[in-house]
Amino acid sequence: MIKYIGSKRKLVDQLLAVTAALPDVHTVLDLFSGTARVGRAWKERGYLVTANDHNEYAYWIAQCYVGVERDRWLSPASELLAQLDALPGAPGYFTKTFCEDARYFQPKNGARVDAIREAIAGMSLPLPLQAIALVSLMEAADRVDSTVGLQMAYLKSWAARAHNDLQLRMPELVVGPSGNVLMLDALQCAGTGSYDVAYLDPPYNQHKYRNNYHVWESLVRWDKPEVYGIANKRIDCKSYTSAFNSRVQIHDALQALVDAVRARYLIVSFNDEGYVSEAQLQAILQRRGPTAVLRVDYQRYVGAKIGIYNPSGVKTGTVGKLRNQELIFVVACDGQLPAGLVELGAEMP
Ligand SMILES: C[S@@+](CC[C@H](N)C(=O)[O-])C[C@H]1O[C@@H](n2cnc3c(N)ncnc32)[C@H](O)[C@@H]1O
Repeated sequence: MIKYIGSKRKLVDQLLAVTAALPDVHTVLDLFSGTARVGRAWKERGYLVTANDHNEYAYWIAQCYVGVERDRWLSPASELLAQLDALPGAPGYFTKTFCEDARYFQPKNGARVDAIREAIAGMSLPLPLQAIALVSLMEAADRVDSTVGLQMAYLKSWAARAHNDLQLRMPELVVGPSGNVLMLDALQCAGTGSYDVAYLDPPYNQHKYRNNYHVWESLVRWDKPEVYGIANKRIDCKSYTSAFNSRVQIHDALQALVDAVRARYLIVSFNDEGYVSEAQLQAILQRRGPTAVLRVDYQRYVGAKIGIYNPSGVKTGTVGKLRNQELIFVVACDGQLPAGLVELGAEMP
């Protein structure tokens, strides 16, 4: 899977345990699906998942991991990926924009991306094969990129992995019910159906996902947009907004979302470094029902550890906070929190 800020990779086990503790859960809505790691894990456990995210790269990732029926598509997808992986490089928009004018990838790998992406565009593939091909290409490019995992900037000197040759691999598809995938603003999505569980994992600060992952957005859309700045971001990054990235709007946006979503239970991820305080979020959630909270300690992103030496190896600062706490809130909209949550260490109201 791609490197992604805010991915709940390390919280998947806790989220599965919380879901399993809730009675009669069959349908789950993941309103901010990102890498679809959580949705994929639910699918594997047999839940019927609806994944939503308003960025198009996330839509294709969710199609691949939540939507695709593995047994039906694995074999044709293997043939397709072998065919695409054999294509020689053919430099085009991607190479010029992201390897020459900027330095996210080595030009030899950019040329392979161009060739493969043009081939996908010319093939009129059925949606599951298109999803597998696009995600395979994104993941292959991610393995040879020269960034710290954000596309706001590239490294001054090439990352060692950037010299490797780009190679397509089969995404790790899972067996489970084929889910639904949407690409809507979360608030709009909240009104589209009702579910046993709705999972909310919104952005919690000013960092905008479209801007952080603009290369993936351009790769999947293949609209070859005008770009700007040293990072060569898509021009639409200037107008892209999410109420959840705004200090002024986030409180009311969360409240509107929590009020609108139709589910028997809400599961909400919360990080203690965001714009909304724990007490504020508690107050918003309690409007829907009794709320339990699970606290999970985990190691912070690596930048907190490495950003303290200058290029000559001299210590220039103190180590930042190395651990932070992720909170998982569980709200019983029908009024009854199951006792099983206590065994998981949840604080009950
Ligand atoms: C914290 S990340 C979710 C990470 C995800 N749970 C995972 O494990 O990868 C937040 C996601 O919300 C999406 N997003 C931001 N604003 C949104 C909005 N208004 N509507 C829908 N999705 C939004 C972003 O594209 C991003 O993928």
